[in-house]
This record gives sequence, structure tokens and C-alpha cells, in this order.
Amino acid sequence: MSRKAFAASDAEWCYHGGELVKMGDVRLSPATHALNYGTGVFEGIRAYWNPTKGTLQVLKLREHYERFEKSCRILHVELPHTVDELCEITLEILKRNAPREDTYIRPLAYKAIESVGVNLRGDSELSVFTVPMGNYVELTGLRCSVSSWRRTADNAIPARAKCTGSYVNTALAVDAAHRAGYDDAIFLTQTGFVSEASAANIFLLRKGGLITPPATADILEGITRDAVMELAEKELGMPTDKRDVGRTELYAADEVFLTGTGFQIAPVTEIDDRKVGEGEMGPVAARLQELYFEAARGENPDYADWTVAVEVAEKARR
Ligand SMILES: Cc1ncc(COP(=O)(O)O)c(C=O)c1O
Repeated sequence: MSRKAFAASDAEWCYHGGELVKMGDVRLSPATHALNYGTGVFEGIRAYWNPTKGTLQVLKLREHYERFEKSCRILHVELPHTVDELCEITLEILKRNAPREDTYIRPLAYKAIESVGVNLRGDSELSVFTVPMGNYVELTGLRCSVSSWRRTADNAIPARAKCTGSYVNTALAVDAAHRAGYDDAIFLTQTGFVSEASAANIFLLRKGGLITPPATADILEGITRDAVMELAEKELGMPTDKRDVGRTELYAADEVFLTGTGFQIAPVTEIDDRKVGEGEMGPVAARLQELYFEAARGENPDYADWTVAVEVAEKARR
């Protein structure tokens, strides 16, 4: 299964160079530092279209910008705005573009200096753009392989920082998995414990309990991971054990599922040509998926603080 391509249109509004401009008007020099050396950090945020309310429900907006700020700090990228201002800018872009469909928001802060010196000095730039995005992967059952590419270690290229350069590691693993006929790759750490999938965190159900690798397993500390742990504890009475996970625990698990803004909650039904559980989506993943989508689309008042609503009237479109 190949992933769908989601492309931004030149006609859409974005934030670049300190103002709102059309995507098609943005020009970057090939000498841009981040383009040459991967010295940028980014976020991926989803806004879910709620046709009943006529709103886009922006999921975990503040949490994403809080993580963005921390990523910037790690890479010495100076942000020209506070978290509150970044949230406001994002809502303004959505109001202008007024998409009446599920949408992905991509904030990107990067070293913009046009110099060939490799360091973390020099000016930074901030861009925020949006693209329409439905399901990034199938949500009924993925076939995964454990990658021969290891996850970059925290003291090599930190996954925690969500920096553009570290996604070369991701691309190598995904490419190898796809060429071998799998949907996605699962990374091990340098010491051989399970880390995460290509762009998603991983959960296992074993002996009736949920397990996920800890923050020290070279993972991106996922916002969906936190959301799923909250749902599992509050709604299913299942606290998650954050502990090291061995490779063959994946084969022995009753359920495995991936979580992420893009992946949402995606069950894994086969790993390294071995069925996970019964080889189909398990009841825990199914229930969590249902609860997650309800909360993400702003349909569960108990989780009203997960989303910010943006009203998108038909007439608001260009
Ligand atoms: C490497 C990686 N791990 C995990 C995740 C999941 O993080 P989140 O739930 O915050 O989207 C992502 C991205 O979305 C990712 O790129």
C-alpha cells in the first residue's frame, strides 16, 4: 500500500516572512541553510471537519506549539512568536483558506541563513501552511516490518526535537519497508529495544495490559500517545505501562497499534510475516479509535478542551 500524496495549493494562504501570503508567492533560495543541512523543526497538526457544526475542530493546537517551542530550543531556532500568537496565526490561516474538509497544518521553523557554514547560528524563518488530508494510512490493519535501519539516538539526532533532518532516517526505513511490500516500518533503538514506527508511536496489548516504549526509547513524545493514554485510563480503566519493549514482544502481543497525528489510531495486524493476535483489528484498538475520533471531531463534551473550533461558512471561501 502506498501512501497518498497530499499537496498544498499555490492559491492557499500561508504564513511566511512575518505575514500572511499566498503559497505561490513564497520563494526560497537553494542556499537556504535548512534545505542543505536539515536544520529545521516542524509540527503536524490536524483539523477535523465537523459537518454538523460547520466547524473545523483543531486538535491539540496548543500542545503542538508547546512541543514546537521545545524543538526550536534544542536547535537554537529563534521563534518570532509566543505559543498564543502561533495559535492565533494558525486559526487565521484556517479562516482564510476555509477548508470544509479534514486539514493538516504544517508549522516549520528553520535556519534561513544563506551560507554554507554548518552550525546553528544565523537567522531563522517561520512558515505555516495547510493541506487537505484524509486518512494517511489504512485504519483497519497495517502490515509492518521491523526495520534494519535503527532509530537515531537522542545524542546523535534527537527524535524528540522533530527536526527535518531526522526524517531521512524515517524515509530510509519507510522506503525499505514499501519496497519489501509492507505498509510501514518499526524502528528499534541502537540497543535493540522497540522505539516507534516511521511517524507514529507504538502500543502493545499483552496479558490484558497496555504497554508503550518510554520517552528514553528515542521516540518523539507523541501528543496522540498522551491522548490515547488518557482515553485508555479514563474510558477503559487501562493505565499504560511505559517500559522497554523487546522485539519479540511484538510477535507475542494480542494487539499492536500505532498512534500519531497523521496515522491517527492504526492497528497493526501483521509484523514480520507473523499475525498479530487474530490477524485483525482487536477490540481495544477499535474502541480507542472510536473514542479518539469522537473527541477529535468535537463530538464528546468530556473532551471539549482537546479541540478549538473554527467556523467555516461556505461564503468565507475566496
Ligand atoms: C517520528 C514520529 N513519532 C511519533 C509521531 C506521533 O506524534 P504525534 O502524536 O504528536 O503526532 C510522529 C508524528 O506525527 C512522528 O513523526
